[in-house]
Amino acid sequence: MSVQIGSFEAREGLFLAPLAGYTDLAFRRVCASFGAEYAVTEMISAKAVVMKNKKTLSLARLGGPPTAVQLFGAEPETVAAAAAFFSSEEGEALCGARPAAIDLNFGCPMKKIVSNGEGAALMRDPGLAGRVVAAAVRASTLPVTVKIRAGWDGEHKNAPEIARVAEASGASAVTVHARTREQFYTGEADLAVIAETAAAVRIPVLGNGDIRSPEDASRMLRETGCAGLVIGRGAVGRPWLFSEILAARRGESFAPPPGEEIARITLAQFADMLREKGERVGVSEARKHLSAYLAGFPGAAAARARVNLLSDPAAIAETVLPVLAPEAGEGALASFFPRGE
Ligand SMILES: Cc1cc2nc3c(=O)[nH]c(=O)nc-3n(C[C@H](O)[C@H](O)[C@H](O)COP(=O)(O)O)c2cc1C
Repeated sequence: MSVQIGSFEAREGLFLAPLAGYTDLAFRRVCASFGAEYAVTEMISAKAVVMKNKKTLSLARLGGPPTAVQLFGAEPETVAAAAAFFSSEEGEALCGARPAAIDLNFGCPMKKIVSNGEGAALMRDPGLAGRVVAAAVRASTLPVTVKIRAGWDGEHKNAPEIARVAEASGASAVTVHARTREQFYTGEADLAVIAETAAAVRIPVLGNGDIRSPEDASRMLRETGCAGLVIGRGAVGRPWLFSEILAARRGESFAPPPGEEIARITLAQFADMLREKGERVGVSEARKHLSAYLAGFPGAAAARARVNLLSDPAAIAETVLPVLAPEAGEGALASFFPRGE
């Protein structure tokens, strides 16, 4: 089950997908603690990298598991310049670690991205897609990987073709999200397209889409013959999904963490976000993670509503803790919320 990307080997083939607005450094660290072997940053505009946009570059802070920096862009020379930056000493210093790879985003369905010819629009232009990959490969000393969709729409499921183009242009691996651009994130993922893509190339093909349980994970492997698994939404609020999949693979039983443990995980991630992003941005971006961790607990709806109104981190933590761990009692907050300033 091992997957090789450049010099890195993911022995269990378990990858965290890029999710803009979610898979920041704090969340990637949490997922790594549960067995995610490799992660990808949120998507980063190649143009903004070239312009040294500070906010954009802050998305490339690395640490935790080996992590690829994901770029989007459709101009070969701009993508090449951004890829060169991330393999330079200056880029490595900015990231705080050497990226594991450059991942190219050929899957983003958003109108403002595809209307620039970027993201999933590249699925419609294999020639340009190949030139973008080749330019990044030439400009960078890092492995280059590509994330694609099944195709643009139901009539054009050309993932195998784009994967062949990527391989011929020097890519080291391809991830296939088994939906078309027209589907965005709804409807069924078409695992047959992943199987066709895996059969079309020699580089590793990673399967992605709707893996939310060990059963989904084994179905993805069984039905597609993919080399590894890329998990996104299934890990949000449930990062232990990686451990659950590993346990199932080994025939071991798995019990989800009790509420008190979930409270520790949640509040440690929140504290990490505050450290990394400062209080204002940290609070605003933590809300959706807190909300996901609260899912299913009695009192979650009221706590979510309150968290959305609060801006003081301690008050937010005080709201979340009794819902996740009612038995923790008063005065327990400090041991759950290690702000560590
Ligand atoms: C909120 C959100 C943000 C996403 N951001 C990115 C991104 O920045 N780059 C990318 O390649 N895919 C992105 N995706 C797509 C995911 O990586 C993944 O392909 C998709 O969610 C299907 O996998 P899943 O069912 O495991 O979530 C995003 C998806 C969602 C829902």
